[in-house]
Amino acid sequence: MKKIVVTGGAGFIGSNLVRSLLEQREGKVIVIDNLFSGKEENLAEVRNEIGFERMDVRDLNAILPVIDGADTVYHLAAIPSVPRSIEDPVPSHDTNLNGCFNVFHAAVQGKVRRLIYAASSSAYGDTEVLPKVETMIPRPKSPYAAQKVMGEYYARCFYECYGLEAVALRFFNVYGPRQDPTSAYSGVLSLFITALIDGKNPTILGDGEQSRDFTYVKDVAGLCIKAAHAGKHVAGITYNAGNGNRHTLNKVWSLLQKIEGIELPAKYGPPRSGDVLHSQADTTLAIRDLGHDPKYSLEEGLRLTLEWYRQDRAA
Ligand SMILES: NC(=O)c1ccc[n+]([C@@H]2O[C@H](COP(=O)([O-])OP(=O)(O)OC[C@H]3O[C@@H](n4cnc5c(N)ncnc54)[C@H](O)[C@@H]3O)[C@@H](O)[C@H]2O)c1
Repeated sequence: MKKIVVTGGAGFIGSNLVRSLLEQREGKVIVIDNLFSGKEENLAEVRNEIGFERMDVRDLNAILPVIDGADTVYHLAAIPSVPRSIEDPVPSHDTNLNGCFNVFHAAVQGKVRRLIYAASSSAYGDTEVLPKVETMIPRPKSPYAAQKVMGEYYARCFYECYGLEAVALRFFNVYGPRQDPTSAYSGVLSLFITALIDGKNPTILGDGEQSRDFTYVKDVAGLCIKAAHAGKHVAGITYNAGNGNRHTLNKVWSLLQKIEGIELPAKYGPPRSGDVLHSQADTTLAIRDLGHDPKYSLEEGLRLTLEWYRQDRAA
């Protein structure tokens, strides 16, 4: 049976990816996570079907034997926050760069076939051109964005130098079940949905006209697996992994009110530092090379997410 390793597998996207890997019977799934922001309970009902290693990607000696001999490594472990990387840059640097290097290095040492790296649309910065195409020169605006771009360069050069078939996928504003709404750094949709359930007016930072390519987490997990199976020609390449659409925060909030059948006007606060104004993926390359085929509309994704948060509250 193939060994599949997911770093950051107890986190939001990682725990959804683990479920998709199990559904598709991809092999023996092993999670590496230090539970910095992830939770073991995110894996609760699949816990007996997977291996779980509570360890830190900054600890090379610890991760080497776990990664050794794996067919595929999905590297998602990170401190994934723009504002956090600005306010407290050292931990982000340590995990997102040193930890990232360790995973690539361990993958080469362990003769891993393919590594899928969770890159970020923050690489584009606030270039005004829309949609964002992979050929645009990265313009990171925060330490987090710069760290994520470096991982893409590692994907390319580890393929060039060591033959590791690494593929970088730039995720665009992912949302869905198990996104943690409790931290000051939480994704905006998880905050919107908990505000909706609590019947509270959300606070939108900025005027709400900033737009994002919101991508439902199952579509992201599906694309990760497609990237693991695509031919060798994808090695070393960075792909946009968004939906190819964009919606303003004001529109998302009004859609959520419509779904719920209530009226709760949003409040507005000062914009976040390092935030980009608009984001939308050109997915031509991912469709052509990886067979990217997102299935969930924003409305459908929001309904499913809302339902999950409700059930989670009730449990
Ligand atoms: N959520 C998004 O919209 C989005 C967008 C672009 C890129 N990404 C990338 O996707 C990946 C997953 O993000 P997420 O939203 O699921 O975040 P998350 O915080 O839920 O998951 C990150 C996981 O990494 C783990 N982790 C952190 N530091 C670690 C370390 N030193 N060693 C081992 N594990 C560690 C955390 O405990 C957590 O389980 C990240 O690499 C992030 O940069 C996410």
